[in-house]
Amino acid sequence: DDEIILPPRWITERLQRRLPQCIIIGVRKSGTRALLEFLSLHPNIKKASDEVHFFDEEQKYSRGLQWYRSQMPYSFPEQVTVEKSPAYFITRYVPQRIKAVNSSIALILVVRNPVTRLISDYTQTRDNRLKKGKPVRTFEETVLAKDGDVNIGYKPIRVSLYHRHLRHWLNVFPREQLLIVDGDMLVENPMKELSNVESFLRLDHRINGSHFHFNQTKGFYCIRDGLNPQSDRCLSKTKGRAHPFVNEDVLQKLNDFFRPHNELFYEMIGQRFDW
Ligand code: A3P
Repeated sequence: DDEIILPPRWITERLQRRLPQCIIIGVRKSGTRALLEFLSLHPNIKKASDEVHFFDEEQKYSRGLQWYRSQMPYSFPEQVTVEKSPAYFITRYVPQRIKAVNSSIALILVVRNPVTRLISDYTQTRDNRLKKGKPVRTFEETVLAKDGDVNIGYKPIRVSLYHRHLRHWLNVFPREQLLIVDGDMLVENPMKELSNVESFLRLDHRINGSHFHFNQTKGFYCIRDGLNPQSDRCLSKTKGRAHPFVNEDVLQKLNDFFRPHNELFYEMIGQRFDW
């Protein structure tokens, strides 16, 4: 007979599924997956692999905290459980709901140039439509209205108005509880942003440059285990898509449109970006 070997009690008692102590709340298409995957290289970080959508989807929220906890990985008490669901950021009632569960939770928001984020968001939707054989419109047709103005009816434009969404979070949580991660920097130099996150979560600095390698084929940093280039673990094909060419006039128009909104965002967070 096969003997069933159980781990010792001192392990099973400490190993439990725990509610997250940290949530990556958004912004979609800013590098939220890259941040979660890279962060989980840390021995004291445990990630929920799938987007949980507990706080934004009624059907899941109604299942209660026991269900939420069951979606989390097993962890030891000294480890930090992290989940990411980028829809949280833009959903009005989510900050209050999170606060009711854990008022001292650590929040992380990844942001990138709102125009780059917009192009990324458009590209994802376009590719999904193409895959289903549905008709697609060009980027220009999508983001500009008939009169040539920026089409604020297009949701990805509104998602890039960061200050409008963040306001609802800062009405509920103190600024110190929120770390802003630079998604453009995460692409160019992931170490820098990861080091900030380790400090924010009061973890030892355990992630270092040797964990990453710039993969020429992918065009992005990938995770390298040891020295073997064959072992590169890159994010899936849906991350790091080729963006469409956007003409200079349209880019200019979008940058002009977002500029005052970006200023409001900088003021709100007490931090500037070069957008
Ligand atoms: P693109 O696919 O438009 O380039 P999210 O995970 O929030 O959906 O963000 C997706 C974006 O993460 C990608 O958008 C890509 O630019 C960015 N990203 C950052 N670091 C990456 C990495 N190492 N590999 C792939 N994509 C990365």
